[in-house]
Amino acid sequence: MKRIISPSLLSADFSILKEQIEIVKKAGAERLHIDCMDGHFVPNFTFGPFILKAIRKLTDLHLETHLMIDNPSNYFNDFIDAGADTLIFHYEASDDVRSDLEKIKNRNIKCGLAIKPETASDVLEEYIDILDYILVMSVSPGFGGQGFIEDTLLKMQAIDQMCINKGRRDNITIGVDGGVNLSTIDKVYKTGVDVTVVGSGLYKAPDIVARFKELSNQ
Ligand code: DX5
Ligand code: ZN
Repeated sequence: MKRIISPSLLSADFSILKEQIEIVKKAGAERLHIDCMDGHFVPNFTFGPFILKAIRKLTDLHLETHLMIDNPSNYFNDFIDAGADTLIFHYEASDDVRSDLEKIKNRNIKCGLAIKPETASDVLEEYIDILDYILVMSVSPGFGGQGFIEDTLLKMQAIDQMCINKGRRDNITIGVDGGVNLSTIDKVYKTGVDVTVVGSGLYKAPDIVARFKELSNQ
């Protein structure tokens, strides 16, 4: 099965952003992962719709936009207008998950739900019918370059199985975010997931194209 790598721009060099996007596209990336943090939901700030709009102008790659923000639905339209192709918010940040997923779907883009490492996979069960994307956090959200939390591997397997049991496996993309690198990627894909988000494990490599190919097993 094809390994889909979603490079996380959080670890890219923003002073040469265009090149950093082009290099992963040249290596074979079909999507990019954009981490939006508000300093409330997570103890770090990154960027909002304004920067996403600039990124949109630089590339036609699928932009999976990971909102690590409180009150996410207040900002859905801004991020969608800026060019998100998949919009992912956190289960832990939403007061009404189903209504929030519907708000995204109604704008005709893909909707995603992320869960923190300490959140059980069971919480996803009632949304499997509507979800396009599930993002399993394998580090505490907020920063790149953290160590992979091994306990989350069992959760990945359980989510894969849950989607199969509900007959929705072909409709849902399962992604894993945090601490994925050359030494952890094999065990992540063995759980059955589709996408790995890779930040520091890709962008900090001396040769980004060569590293992308190694991670993709090419
Ligand atoms: C962390 C972010 C990740 C981050 C991953 O909160 O959601 O997307 O960029 O970075 P690495 O791959 O370095 O763990
Ligand atoms: Zn992320």
